[in-house]
Amino acid sequence: MRSEPPRADGQLVEGQPAEGPAIDGMLRNGLLADVSPAALARDFGTPLYVYDLGLIGRRVDALGAVLPSGFRLAFAVKANPALGVLAHIAGCGIGADIASGGELETVLRAGFAPVSVAMTGPGKRDEELAAAVTAGIGAITVESLGELHRLDGIAATLHRRQPILLRLAVAEEAQFERVRLIGGVEGKFGMPLPVLKEAAAFAATSPNLELLGVHAFGASNLLDAGRIADHVAEIVAVGKEVAGEAGVPLRLVDAGGGLGIPYADGERPLDLALLGTRLEELRARWDQDPALREMEILLEPGRFLVGPAGAYVARVVDVKGTDEAPVAILDGGINHNVRVALVRQEQRLAVLAPDAGARDRVPTTVAGPLCTGLDVFALHVELPRPRVGDLIAMLEAGAYGFTESMPFFLSHPTPAEVAVRGGQARLIRPRLTPRELLEHQIAPRW
Ligand SMILES: Cc1ncc(COP(=O)(O)O)c(C=O)c1O
Repeated sequence: MRSEPPRADGQLVEGQPAEGPAIDGMLRNGLLADVSPAALARDFGTPLYVYDLGLIGRRVDALGAVLPSGFRLAFAVKANPALGVLAHIAGCGIGADIASGGELETVLRAGFAPVSVAMTGPGKRDEELAAAVTAGIGAITVESLGELHRLDGIAATLHRRQPILLRLAVAEEAQFERVRLIGGVEGKFGMPLPVLKEAAAFAATSPNLELLGVHAFGASNLLDAGRIADHVAEIVAVGKEVAGEAGVPLRLVDAGGGLGIPYADGERPLDLALLGTRLEELRARWDQDPALREMEILLEPGRFLVGPAGAYVARVVDVKGTDEAPVAILDGGINHNVRVALVRQEQRLAVLAPDAGARDRVPTTVAGPLCTGLDVFALHVELPRPRVGDLIAMLEAGAYGFTESMPFFLSHPTPAEVAVRGGQARLIRPRLTPRELLEHQIAPRW
């Protein structure tokens, strides 16, 4: 479909930031990625996800531009595994971070070079490890001693020497508060430092494995550039110690993802210039150290690259409540975007209607159609008074949106996924209807 030209009357603009850097968001002048939301709804129906591929490319470039030499990027596919999005990101020239055999198949089909792919995640099955080894991916991050021995055997059977990283367990509280690599915790992710050193000693002498370095994911959704740089410095120090003791050069340190985006009005975006400065300082220090001079750093951002480049658009099917506190019920809810309920963090909503700017603003509750009280996008948020038929967009929905949803709950249609590039909107994942979902079920005749 070709987008309609921007309309002079403007689709309504709500919660939209003032004109800012071109990497900040996809809602501008009432248009989503320069396309009229009404046209998107007309051509693809609602609910739908819409992604701004141009914006993703600009975010890749903006981050890449501040990184010092020796830094590489791999997009964390879990944030948005839509093939049409991944094919675009592959074309941006960065790698991919995958977490399953399914994601491996997806990135290969999307056009990522196997050598640019890193695989990380607990519970990798033998067949997934074998597929990754066979594909020749650039690194498998090993999460436990058991997995290390399984991978060693698989690589031996396949007559391959598989490059690996060893994942350090980080303190539980690091996920949400301070980034602190105490390396002494036993948990679901990675290995405590003493176990990791044991793994390094084994890997360094195995003919089937090539120990590149270490991996550690610090914390999610960090908006503080200093904390991100501190995390990188800490994991490099751990990597140097581990590689030194194992008697191998430290070739790669994977500092994970976690680069954040603002979700609420008033939150400040990550200061990329400051991040670049802090990382340059580190690089300069490492360049003085023969043990670190050749080392590369991999960052695996997911949310940062795609979050602001996606919106979830649903239609108001009912308005109830009172005049003072209306409740708008949409044709999609947390079945399509569960993040709000999981993380308990509201995301910005925009009423997309030509006359919305002229309406009075009221504290509005925005909810989906599911039979659970969890299915609420926002409680008493100031919005132009909603009407049946309005389109409402949830912004910053490009990461952990569609992919983290629960599409089977209550048998509603899934959202369609649409990508926009150069003003052209194309369907990248058709909506699945309840009837299609039924076709995948069996009622046995006992
Ligand atoms: C190993 C790994 N790398 C990268 C990411 C991406 O994180 P984010 O989207 O916060 O950048 C995740 C997220 O869970 C992860 O587990």
